[in-house]
Amino acid sequence: MARMETSSNLEAELDRLLEIERFDPPEEFREHALLADRSVYEEAERDWQGWWLSQAKELSWFKEPTETLDDSDPPFYKWFADGKLNASHICLDQHVEAGNGERVAFHWRGEEGEERDLTYADLHRDVQRFANALKELGIGKGDIVGIYLPMIPEVVVAMLACARIGAPHNVVFGGFSADSVRERMEFSEAKALITVDGARRKGKTAPIKQQVDSVMADLDTIEHIIVVKHTDAECEMKDGRDVWYHEVMEKADTECPAEELDAEHPLYVLYTSGSTGKPKGVLHTTGGYLTGVASTHRYVFDLHPDEDVYWCSADVGWVTGHSYIVYGPMANGATSVMFEGAPDYPHKGIWWELCERYGVTIFYTAPTAIRACIKWGTEHVEKFNLDKLRLLGTVGEPINPKAWLWYHKVVGGERCPIVDTWWQTETGQIMITPLPGIVSTKPGSATFPYPGIAATVVDEREGKELEPGEPGLLVLTRPWPAMLRTLYREDERFIEQYFSKFGKETYLVGDGARKDEDGYFWIIGRIDDVVNVSGHRLSTAEVESAIVSHQKVAEAAVIGQSDEDTGQAICAFVTLEGDLEGTSELEQEIRDHVGSRIGKFTRPKRIIWADDLPKTRSGKIMRRLLRDIAEGRALGDVTTLRDPDVMSQLEDKIKAEQAEDD
Ligand code: PRX
Repeated sequence: MARMETSSNLEAELDRLLEIERFDPPEEFREHALLADRSVYEEAERDWQGWWLSQAKELSWFKEPTETLDDSDPPFYKWFADGKLNASHICLDQHVEAGNGERVAFHWRGEEGEERDLTYADLHRDVQRFANALKELGIGKGDIVGIYLPMIPEVVVAMLACARIGAPHNVVFGGFSADSVRERMEFSEAKALITVDGARRKGKTAPIKQQVDSVMADLDTIEHIIVVKHTDAECEMKDGRDVWYHEVMEKADTECPAEELDAEHPLYVLYTSGSTGKPKGVLHTTGGYLTGVASTHRYVFDLHPDEDVYWCSADVGWVTGHSYIVYGPMANGATSVMFEGAPDYPHKGIWWELCERYGVTIFYTAPTAIRACIKWGTEHVEKFNLDKLRLLGTVGEPINPKAWLWYHKVVGGERCPIVDTWWQTETGQIMITPLPGIVSTKPGSATFPYPGIAATVVDEREGKELEPGEPGLLVLTRPWPAMLRTLYREDERFIEQYFSKFGKETYLVGDGARKDEDGYFWIIGRIDDVVNVSGHRLSTAEVESAIVSHQKVAEAAVIGQSDEDTGQAICAFVTLEGDLEGTSELEQEIRDHVGSRIGKFTRPKRIIWADDLPKTRSGKIMRRLLRDIAEGRALGDVTTLRDPDVMSQLEDKIKAEQAEDD
């Protein structure tokens, strides 16, 4: 395998590829693809509801649905409402019953190189036990169960055990702070929390249980905390409330049949950032969600479950992990890789080492990770044999063509199609994406809506469809099975946020986009106060309120600034109390404060001390001007400002800062 190239050769090669407008599906790929001709789009267009029903019927139901969509009360749609099923049965029992119990569901790899292969039969056994353990603790259908775990197999067991007894889970990403966990448990009135003694990160251990204890004491809705022993980090176990996972597992009965649940039974709540400081509890239900994720996982990734080894490098705590590590792949009986660690620990080629080791054929990651790999150097990839890879995917943010081409050439050896998949926590499933055996790709475009999905770009004022090339708002004009059903306990906010601007039948995405002459969709980015840092979604308001909770801060305004590595980075304009001076120590203090309030990954990259912030006469902070100033653009209209001098002062500050950096 002689893929070693000098960097100047690689540059020349990438420049050559930059000239190519479209990349057709390679012939070799098409020959084996599940879908290789465009008729699927036509079939789905002829009868989109019928198409979704046909996808639903691929699942193993206790009672197959006869109804497809109930749209009598938009935007509260119901899908497959008379069907009965259970997500855990679909992800486990059906495979065991079909004789595939010995198939590996996950090749798990720990940070320090530990390996565990978990078969479908192993997980079937553990999930039943844990479901019984939950029942023993008094948790049943409809109770919310929090999950705050690292990337260890127990996180999958916990999610599927909840699903088995009809208790919706509420998973919090391990990178969020204990304060954020508390907030999410409080909002959802969770009855139990499943967590871990300690979590490992690049050779260090974080005392998770201790951190959880420090904030959870007075939250009475939490009746039980179940603790997985993972690192032996010290922790106290509170009598009557806390139990060890391994102890309750030992005592639990081995058999626990899956509850027969209605298709619209809630499967999970997942909190995500909105444009206000309060996270939104996105609620997904069972039948439509599983239909959406299983169908897209099969066809977007062209999954051949008995041959492929699939790896989605996301964390299970984000929607990507829910839909494309757990529910989609497991519904389809896939063999996956699950990795506990970071992409640069113990070395910068670990992902590629694992691709070689497990023979990964399909790899799905985020553009920000690709950009990090480019920075680290091609040599870390080229050391490993990636010949088995046949399909690559990206998700989470727009991918710049250079990163796309590097991924295509260096990782994919120019033979793997790339699926750039656009979707959201709210959509549950992939919505705009190439089908890899059919669609010619253009680097940077997510291409076309998935069969059955209707999307378009409209103008902001009237919601009229725009001509090719014109940027506008992305909207979805039909319901789809995996759509969120509401915001947990906030029906009004659900309508207001997504279905008020253009009526109750048009879903407002919150992204800007344009379509080109060939109908390809190009996603531009968020149009609200949501920032996308390394594919992680954050609300500027949430970071602002964390900053102003620091005692020395009077006021703060947070914006997302373009960033070469992370797509966007958080930049905070901060005014201090009284005569306090901004110092580098205080900057660090504020960053750490935000880290402990929300999570380390939300710490501002840049803090700019401001004597005052630009506000309109009614007192609203003009973030548009702050974005202009942070990115060094000419300032837009400042005449509506209460005090236009504020901007020139800020400009002087930024110039002084730049002079210092130079
Ligand atoms: O702005 C879009 C961006 O990520 C947002 C959704 O974030 P979240 O709910 O956290 O889900 C991320 C994983 C599905 C979108 O509104 N986004 C996601 N995928 C893409 C993207 N932007 C451009 N291209 C994508 N492929």
